[in-house]
Amino acid sequence: MTRVFSGIKPTGPVQLGNLLGALRHWVADQDDADTIFCVVDLHALTVPQDPSELRTRTLELAQLLLAIGIDPERSTLFVQSHVPEHAELSWILECTAAFGELRRMTQFKDKSTDAEFVSAGLFTYPALMAADILLYDTDRVPVGDDQRQHLELARDLAMRFNHRYGNTFVVPEAAIAKVGARVMDLQHPTRKMSKSEDSPQGTILVLDDLATVAKKIRRAVTDTDTDVRFDIVEKPGVSNLLSILSACTGESPEALAGNYARYGDLKTACAEAVVETLRPVQERFAEYNADPAGTAAILARGAARAREIAGPVLSRARTNLGLLETGPT
Ligand code: TYM
Repeated sequence: MTRVFSGIKPTGPVQLGNLLGALRHWVADQDDADTIFCVVDLHALTVPQDPSELRTRTLELAQLLLAIGIDPERSTLFVQSHVPEHAELSWILECTAAFGELRRMTQFKDKSTDAEFVSAGLFTYPALMAADILLYDTDRVPVGDDQRQHLELARDLAMRFNHRYGNTFVVPEAAIAKVGARVMDLQHPTRKMSKSEDSPQGTILVLDDLATVAKKIRRAVTDTDTDVRFDIVEKPGVSNLLSILSACTGESPEALAGNYARYGDLKTACAEAVVETLRPVQERFAEYNADPAGTAAILARGAARAREIAGPVLSRARTNLGLLETGPT
């Protein structure tokens, strides 16, 4: 059976781009793959975090994943720091990656430019991400378009390690959807929607009040002429709304464009589709959120199953590398 693995950071409120670019594919993958999903709290540490906020965010992110339809009976859902194999394999892969290839990562360049404090972890982050993936003999990794380069690196590291030390890791494929893989900011449609808090009007949070969601979409920046057409370069604002509507309805953005004569009609349809997508998620989130002990139990079971898979893969890597096995005491 195909093995699917993916992760999400507990660094800020989940936004529509996370849902349309990645999370909805995680839910669909449960029908035909062995699915493993991870709240990657160690990745959040690359920038300083408030401890109690990190704890709350980690638990609530797990609850949100359950609310969107991750089914703990069919998927393994766990928190990265509960499985220490991730940190150990990460070190091994840091020693497999070249300094120069980590320096070329565009996300590192973006996040380190003008930052007051750049942690070493921000630089080595992609090696930890590769460890997450390679620990589970992963075949397919559903992610948004912004993770493409990190996935390429994970593949390169797997191949390099296999070449040096013998066949150890499965080489994973990125699964990046055609529609929704790059949801753009509603106010600045040439930059991607993100969790960071610098564009609250341009970002739809999955847990935003539904009236606010509709308002943000109605106020989205559109383009200067009045044509409803799917053209990302010439009409980024309208095309973003068409992509969002397409991801919510399953119809192609090109076909949808033909249904609307005016921007206002497109915005109304888009707002309705997003509100109806989020409504059941918010209702289920409230139920999970009322039962933190239940969520903790799901995560504990998930971590136990994750360790059953990760342990033997890490042992394989240790043996092939030549690390001395512990003898009997
Ligand atoms: P993160 O937490 O930033 O985002 C989680 C997922 O959401 C996707 N995404 C988007 N998709 C479309 N449009 C957007 N505007 C948008 N914004 C975010 C991301 O591509 C991602 O799929 N490094 C990863 C987390 C990670 C991981 C992994 C992923 C750690 N280890 C192993 C896969 C496998 C990250 O920062 O995602």
